[in-house]
Amino acid sequence: MLIEAKGLGKRYERGGRPFWALRGADLQVSSGDFVTVLGRSGSGKSTLLNILVGLLPPTEGSVSLMGEDISKLDDAKRSSLRNAHVGYVPQSAGLIPTLTVLDNVRLPWYLAGHRGEEPEGRAQTLLGEVGLKDLGSQFPSALSGGELRRVAIARALMCSPDAIVADEPTSNLDPASARGVVDIFRAIARKGGAVLMVTHDTFSLDASTRLYDMAEGKLELRP
Ligand SMILES: Nc1ncnc2c1ncn2[C@@H]1O[C@H](COP(=O)(O)OP(=O)(O)OP(=O)(O)O)[C@@H](O)[C@H]1O
Ligand SMILES: [Mg+2]
Repeated sequence: MLIEAKGLGKRYERGGRPFWALRGADLQVSSGDFVTVLGRSGSGKSTLLNILVGLLPPTEGSVSLMGEDISKLDDAKRSSLRNAHVGYVPQSAGLIPTLTVLDNVRLPWYLAGHRGEEPEGRAQTLLGEVGLKDLGSQFPSALSGGELRRVAIARALMCSPDAIVADEPTSNLDPASARGVVDIFRAIARKGGAVLMVTHDTFSLDASTRLYDMAEGKLELRP
């Protein structure tokens, strides 16, 4: 099992009142899965993903990544586990403004402790795969919202992760680019990787092997 969540709950405070953004969520993602979570704005999708990748602590429940209970790891170990195995595409692209596009894509390679250029120009190849082969030397400020999103996808693929976890990766994209992203993800799942994505749109439904609905913090498997 690449990702396993049991009984996840997240309570936030809003206006001095507690409320549960996520309640009793169970989820498993194995090699070969393409899991899609559909839900309206505010239903708790980003909260779920941030907990699954270890960026946000749950109020209750547990998460295992690659068989390791992440609550038992310190921050450094949790980050290195994530960097080694999970390609995360956050909802906001989250690129480093002072690095070129190419170096942003390459960043996980450096974070994994490597020095020098990656083999076979992988960062450039990935930029080509997301349709941005000529933009490597630009800085993020020169890119459109959809282009930034595609850079974030290339960055998530940099270290050949076992699992891709993507937060609305196709939002801001035209239909052809969105399908291109889904095709890349589908190929990853077919090669034995795993994909977990949340979305509002229905492009990826054909590619999905499992579908969940999220509503008001409740995650339900669609039969
Ligand atoms: N840090 C926070 N403190 C308080 N409330 C929060 C916090 N983060 C999120 N929320 C609330 O929790 C709920 C779930 O938020 P979340 O971002 O997970 O939704 P979402 O399904 O990803 O929405 P969207 O599709 O708009 O991205 C929302 O009502 C949001 O306002
Ligand atoms: Mg969200």
